[in-house]
Amino acid sequence: MAKTKTSFFCQNCGYESAKWLGKCPACNEWNTFVEEVVARPSARAPEWQTTAGPKKQSRKAAVIHEIAPVAESRLTTPDRELNRVLGGGIVRGSLVLVGGEPGIGKSTLMLQLALTMKAKTLYVSGEESEQQLKMRAERISKASQANCYILTETATANIFTQVQSVAPDVVIIDSIQTLHSPHVDSAPGSVSQVRECTAELLRFAKETNVPVFIVGHITKDGSIAGPKVLEHMVDTVLQFEGDRHHAYRILRAVKNRFGSASELGIYEMQGSGLREVSNPSEILLSQREDGTSGTAIAVLLEGMRPMLIEVQALVSNSAYGTPQRSSTGFDTKRMNMLLAVLEKRFGFRLSTQDVFLNIAGGLRVEDPAIDLAVIVAIISSQQDIAVPATVAFAGEVGLSGEIRAVNRIEQRIAEAEKLGFETIYLAKYNAKGLDRRKYNIDIKAVARVEEMFQAVFG
Ligand code: TYD
Ligand code: MG
Repeated sequence: MAKTKTSFFCQNCGYESAKWLGKCPACNEWNTFVEEVVARPSARAPEWQTTAGPKKQSRKAAVIHEIAPVAESRLTTPDRELNRVLGGGIVRGSLVLVGGEPGIGKSTLMLQLALTMKAKTLYVSGEESEQQLKMRAERISKASQANCYILTETATANIFTQVQSVAPDVVIIDSIQTLHSPHVDSAPGSVSQVRECTAELLRFAKETNVPVFIVGHITKDGSIAGPKVLEHMVDTVLQFEGDRHHAYRILRAVKNRFGSASELGIYEMQGSGLREVSNPSEILLSQREDGTSGTAIAVLLEGMRPMLIEVQALVSNSAYGTPQRSSTGFDTKRMNMLLAVLEKRFGFRLSTQDVFLNIAGGLRVEDPAIDLAVIVAIISSQQDIAVPATVAFAGEVGLSGEIRAVNRIEQRIAEAEKLGFETIYLAKYNAKGLDRRKYNIDIKAVARVEEMFQAVFG
């Protein structure tokens, strides 16, 4: 009998090794290697072609200018947020990975897509029964004229048989961790199994030009073979994220071969599925009260879309020796840096105080233009002086207390003006070459933090 071939795989990044290793040389994680059985598939037809279908011819190299250009053909979906994140609709033949923590709403998003598209869709679920899916579909209540097929199956061979008989325009796989291929002996969800199933789906997508969506779970500690190992195989990686206790969900493009990777879609999870949020600023600002200290409004850009967001800070005397520093939605290290700047450069005594920072709506912000609003919120709370509700901020703060320019300032100013703000603070450098007559909003250009505090707090 042939010896079973096994290999060790890093469960974090998918690195393969012939022997067990304590530390992964690729991602430097410890104790991530697990032995998996791999039966190397010897020259075989792609799984989806085994029942029927043409044999593929080997390809020849071609000079690039002789290759006929093909207009990228896209399927637009009724979901405008998804279209935006994908870069203008679903590209035919693309493989899209939708990652996110369990319970965030990936299945809801995908089923909703399957139910609302005019094209024929096949939703393959390895996680729920047909009845459960039916119940969910009724909750989403868009099932009336849908051309949506449901398949509860986990073996790739059976899935491809069904795909051939249904001939859908879009295939959705929920989730990749439940699939198994007969060509690999290890358990579903293991690195080699997940990789093999994705490779089969990739071949299917490229050769039939049918787009495939793959749902993948990630756990917080990344201990299961997460979609990390797949990121280089697929065309597009979408991350579905948000705080489970908040209603807002964000769909972010992490990688996109067919569009910008900085686009963002915003949804609100409701009792009847996900609702698109086309004007995020209105909700993110809606619960504002005038006259409370510790809040400031930042003008941010997520992808190409400007939005205004509320930053809340609470500074109080520390009850313990070590003050607490905590932030939600904002990098804690960056907050500590800003606190150090305030302490060292401007003499604010923050080192004996607890500082809590919160970005409203459960959003996670990476745009450095939020810095200005963060320090204003902190000082507003510490001094107990409220910032007028009609003032917005956009600027990055440097280590010496200088205010640095941010990109696309015109767009940010226009958004603040559109939402009825009367004053915007920004970096002096940003204000250069700006045609102020175009705007009704009062543009205050400041070079340094103390200058801004003088203007805001007097
Ligand atoms: P689900 O799509 O199952 O998450 P995932 O596939 O990422 O694990 O969604 C789970 C949550 O969404 C669940 O807690 C219930 C909630 N939900 C709603 O609030 N409204 C709805 O219409 C649906 C279908 C789900
Ligand atoms: Mg699910």
